[in-house]
Amino acid sequence: MTADELRKKYVDFFVSKGHAQIQGKSLLPENDPTVLFTTAGMHPLVPYLLGEEHPAGKRLVNFQKCIRTGDIEAVGDASHLTFFEMLGNWSLGDYFKEEAIKMSFEFLTSPLWLNIPIEKLGVTVFEGEDQIPRDDESAAIWKSLGIERISYLPREDNWWGPAGTTGPCGPDTEMFYYMGDSPCSPDCKPGCSCKKWLEIWNDVFMQYNKNAQGAYEPLSRKCVDTGMGIERTVTVLNGKSSVYDTTIFEPIIAAIEKAANCKYTSKADIEADKSIRIIADHTRSATFILGDPKAVSPSNVGAGYVLRRLIRRAVRHCRKLNPDGMSLSPISQVVIDIFKNTYPELEENRTFIIGELNKEEAKFMETLQKGEHEFEKLLPNLLKDPRKIMSGRLAFKLYDTYGFPIELTEELAAESGMTVNKEEFDEAFKKHQELSRSQSGQAFKGGLGDQGEMAVKYHTATHLLHQALKTVLGDHAAQKGSNITAERLRFDFTHDTPMTADEIKKTEDLVNEQISKNLQIFMETMSIEDAKKSGAIALFGEKYEAQVKVYTIGSSINDFFTKEVCGGPHIERTGTLGIFKIQKEQSSSAGVRRIRAVLN
Ligand code: ALA
Repeated sequence: MTADELRKKYVDFFVSKGHAQIQGKSLLPENDPTVLFTTAGMHPLVPYLLGEEHPAGKRLVNFQKCIRTGDIEAVGDASHLTFFEMLGNWSLGDYFKEEAIKMSFEFLTSPLWLNIPIEKLGVTVFEGEDQIPRDDESAAIWKSLGIERISYLPREDNWWGPAGTTGPCGPDTEMFYYMGDSPCSPDCKPGCSCKKWLEIWNDVFMQYNKNAQGAYEPLSRKCVDTGMGIERTVTVLNGKSSVYDTTIFEPIIAAIEKAANCKYTSKADIEADKSIRIIADHTRSATFILGDPKAVSPSNVGAGYVLRRLIRRAVRHCRKLNPDGMSLSPISQVVIDIFKNTYPELEENRTFIIGELNKEEAKFMETLQKGEHEFEKLLPNLLKDPRKIMSGRLAFKLYDTYGFPIELTEELAAESGMTVNKEEFDEAFKKHQELSRSQSGQAFKGGLGDQGEMAVKYHTATHLLHQALKTVLGDHAAQKGSNITAERLRFDFTHDTPMTADEIKKTEDLVNEQISKNLQIFMETMSIEDAKKSGAIALFGEKYEAQVKVYTIGSSINDFFTKEVCGGPHIERTGTLGIFKIQKEQSSSAGVRRIRAVLN
């Protein structure tokens, strides 16, 4: 079965069970300062899991492109990827455990759907802890369906919430496929030391909201959130032992073989195979990030930094395969060709994707040259050491300051008859990683569900600002990005030149005028066509559902200042916003300006 067939089957199955298909969203979350990328299908649905009504109803299904870089070091083994597609179905206060598990079981085992033999399946359920009981209910449902291989596991395995420390969460039950001929013993079940169970699907029973104090508040509506990994499921359905050996990766790997003039033998313990897998995965991720409607370019911060790391790591492995180096662009072209029908944004952004890849590759080559130059400068001193050992701290400095990879430092050292103190390097590297992890942990703090009062106010102020900019600068001033915290809003929009002091003042005054009028915020649900016809602002390049919410800010629904397609939430009246002040107006990228503003 191909990925295209699986995507279709999944959606068809859940549509036949009364679910509405909704669009997958951008890889770069809007209005969410807590994560850099969309990491699961539920991510764009958090407001709805917390109680907002979804315009498409209570049963939803979709497929969503996701990026997770937490396991980037594991990429190259049989199943880890930084980019993957997730199939998901949701119940927003509709069905719960029993129906969710029964539907999962039917989709997996029915001859009409995936037809997986029941002996190949095992599941895990939550073992319980202080405040939360063991999930015997899920286990009993699985048993009633004939699943015998059930493991009870702790929070690390069977509890799911979004990346943040707060937000909707609950126990989950995960479905595993046995990758060998048949389970290794009568007791063999997921988690067994034979390590042959591969997780393919997760049903999360969201029944709590973890608040900022760490307490679990029961959600007023219990929800189900599920996620099935397309790549892993295609792997097991085709009897393959690695995601890289599926039809999803075949053409990508063929392109790498051609560019590097090498042969892939599908063995993770062979260095060249591992490099091929890393290049395939990272190029696919980079292509999707660059091809997103809210495209970012490689940079030293945030999502741009992750993108830079992915590209550079891929380039480094290209150099391993082929010392003369090779370009990622022909590989990326193949990725675009494979996925352009499902994700048309890749075709639309083809020129941008390839241009940015080429630019970043060239920059990295410069870095490598600089690093080599620095190494040569250090060399005379290094050679004075009778033990011929280069300190790990020095190697780390080359890595940290110039981005010079340790493997290359080791290579250069070896050429001069030296070794690098790798232990010391690893120690410095680990310290650095812990630091960046705790920093990115900070970024997650507040959780996805962090729609505190101030964040909601900033969200409403963003709509006022968007319209004010259009009024002052012209209709071309369209939103390119938005990022809100409890302390400020940041808004990117298309405009070629810096705003003058007068334009800034006019924009502020216009927003403050709407605040002082204490306008009302109205919400309506309508089709996207009607929304556009009614003059509502919709974002260019954004994918919308058939039914959308439209927020109107005005003295009445017909006499309004702004009308915009948006998921919400918003405050009720503008009078509570306070005084709007633009703190900074600067360039964001070519043709795009960035405003930072606060409410006092
Ligand atoms: N959100 C759940 C996951 O990512 C389904 O596993």
